[in-house]
Amino acid sequence: MKAIDIGKSGLIASEISLGCMRIVELEQPEIDTLINTALEVGIDFFDHADVYGGGKSEELFAAALKRSSTAREKIILQSKCGIRPRAFDFSREYILSAVEGSLNRLQTEYLDVLLLHRPDTLMEPEEVADAFSQLHQSGKVRHFGVSNMNPGQIELLRKFVDQKIVANQLQLSLTNTGMIDSGINVNMQIDRAIDRDGSILEYCRLHDITIQPWSPFQYGFFEGVFLDSDKFPELNRTINAIAEEKRVTNSAIAIAWLLRHPAKMQPIVGTTNPTRVRDIAQASSVEMTRLEWYALYLAAGNALP
Ligand SMILES: NC(=O)c1ccc[n+]([C@@H]2O[C@H](COP(=O)([O-])OP(=O)(O)OC[C@H]3O[C@@H](n4cnc5c(N)ncnc54)[C@H](OP(=O)(O)O)[C@@H]3O)[C@@H](O)[C@H]2O)c1
Repeated sequence: MKAIDIGKSGLIASEISLGCMRIVELEQPEIDTLINTALEVGIDFFDHADVYGGGKSEELFAAALKRSSTAREKIILQSKCGIRPRAFDFSREYILSAVEGSLNRLQTEYLDVLLLHRPDTLMEPEEVADAFSQLHQSGKVRHFGVSNMNPGQIELLRKFVDQKIVANQLQLSLTNTGMIDSGINVNMQIDRAIDRDGSILEYCRLHDITIQPWSPFQYGFFEGVFLDSDKFPELNRTINAIAEEKRVTNSAIAIAWLLRHPAKMQPIVGTTNPTRVRDIAQASSVEMTRLEWYALYLAAGNALP
């Protein structure tokens, strides 16, 4: 498994991360196998949020890690905060209390990375700055980032926050390519040219912010998996042909497509199936050509001007 430097911060992590949003659906022995398999294939970066499973995901993960006797320093733990029932909350008090909650549930003294989960329009950036500084100085959080934010929102934070923003977690998959489409179709009178994110892809590259694509196998907003779906016949034909040629599975090709982008992204995969974890890890050694990348992009139903 290749490694990347998250946000050029010196935090070196596996280029594929395991997202832990769905582990509440598993029994304890299955969680053990999932995490041990991830570690075996070289995945050392685990993505959490205080809200996953209402906090249960972090607890289950910590218990499994304890049973695996993996040293805390061997893995990288990221969690997120800011989502409350029917509200977003980036107030100083809420960020601080959410981190305490995550640290307790994860049974750890520090988070490697804390992300602000979804933009809170009532955000006071000075309060975020205060909370980040307190968390950093106390050693409770080592690095900071955001999720689902556009360039303006990140700029606003950067004006006040002392710490570097190292990551931005965004929805991106072969079937969710808005941030790529608008850049390919600049100034055209078509829907694909509409810039819905303020050129977040280019912004993150300019500022060395690692994009972490979430739901890399889903189409729509958690509508389902595009792999082997009748809804995407051409895409699946193309994925399968490339997979066969490279002797990997279709899951590996879907992730290799994201890894091929020079923005050096870190996909967050959410499978709970250890066999799929092994398959997906092979994406790290796939060499995808420029023409293969574009063939997949077109097969997903896109067009080039
Ligand atoms: N920042 C945010 O706002 C945000 C939002 C959503 C998610 N996330 C993060 O992103 C992570 C991934 O999200 P996700 O779970 O929705 O993404 P995903 O990896 O696209 O989807 C995983 C789901 O797809 C299923 N699946 C079916 N066939 C598959 C195949 N061939 N290959 C891979 N998966 C297949 C998996 O089932 P099996 O388990 O049976 O394999 C699992 O239920 C989450 O765990 C979370 O950490 C962040």
